[in-house]
Amino acid sequence: MQINYNLKTASERRTEQFEPKENVGFGNLRTDHMFLMDYRDGEWRDPRIVPYGPFEIAPGAIALHYGQSVFEGAKAFKHDDDEIYTFRLNKNAERLNRSADIICIPALDESMQLEAINALIDVDRLWFPMQEDACLYIRPFIFATEDRLSVSPSEEYTFCVILSPSGPYYSDGFDKAIRLLISERFHRAVPGGTGASKAAGNYAASLKAGRAAAEYGAAQVLYLDANNKQIEEVGAMNHFHVLKDGTVIIPTFTDTILKSITSESILELGDVLGCVVRQETVMLDKFIADIESGEIIEAGGFGTAAVVSPVGSYIFEDNRIVTVGDGHVGKHTRRIYQVLTDIQKGKVEGPQGWMQLVNRVT
Ligand code: PLP
Ligand code: COI
Repeated sequence: MQINYNLKTASERRTEQFEPKENVGFGNLRTDHMFLMDYRDGEWRDPRIVPYGPFEIAPGAIALHYGQSVFEGAKAFKHDDDEIYTFRLNKNAERLNRSADIICIPALDESMQLEAINALIDVDRLWFPMQEDACLYIRPFIFATEDRLSVSPSEEYTFCVILSPSGPYYSDGFDKAIRLLISERFHRAVPGGTGASKAAGNYAASLKAGRAAAEYGAAQVLYLDANNKQIEEVGAMNHFHVLKDGTVIIPTFTDTILKSITSESILELGDVLGCVVRQETVMLDKFIADIESGEIIEAGGFGTAAVVSPVGSYIFEDNRIVTVGDGHVGKHTRRIYQVLTDIQKGKVEGPQGWMQLVNRVT
């Protein structure tokens, strides 16, 4: 792919490695550039890296009205050799296409996605924030740009990648277990719907639920299936729990659960973690009874942004609270976080191919 570079002038660009004095937080900052590519006349064309800035978009663009837009979230890390490595980006590229297919967006060759992201990180590599637990958060997305008000798939799209120099997702750190609201009122996905995709609309639909969670003092909602029988996932994370023998259980992926790359990684790391990690259908009644009997000792969420989010308690809409174990971060949850983040940071070697060097292209 021939990428056209339209870079900021040397004096406008960052010239020294980013060394923030304070925690930069998650998702707040942007780098100097973004990657763009358009879909027109049946093909993806015009790959380019340009200064980060506003788009010109038609007021009638389909994405603005009907939400035909998908996104991904991935991370890159700096290792001791001072090079930047992406974590399992091929899985994100694959999933972007799966999400795209679910809402009729044309696929974008996965190797092109990887090349685009590589080139962008390379151009903005000085933006990697040199601080504890930092990463470059990678946000690729595709949105429908055709100016048309009838409801059918757009004929035109833009693929964009932006980067966010980020610190840890939870500013309180990993030591604080969160509370989740178990809601029977809000549902994130239904069979045959778009729940297994990272379609933008899924997240718009979760906003009201997020507000309700906050009213209950909870960080997020733990969604149930449409019949309120099974545990599905959290708004931006898969869910897991740990049995007293150390077995880690993640709800089986279905078309109402996003196939989390973090969950897939934990499933693949079972041997390294020294415990069984498996998937099964998780029934709400049994889940709660098992917490109360002590059969379940830990729980949490898996996702790129936070990696592992320990859950200390659940609250129901009638204000009933169920505390997991002693309500604090458990040793299994801690170990999972440690093992995965050590691999990401290059402290220990992970499975073949998980970390990919960002080549110096420019
Ligand atoms: N579930 C939902 C709905 C999400 O938005 C995310 C975040 O991407 C996840 C799960 C976790 O997926 P991953 O581990 O690939 O980030
Ligand atoms: C991620 O974990 O990367 C996500 O995409 C979640 C996001 C909605 C913050």
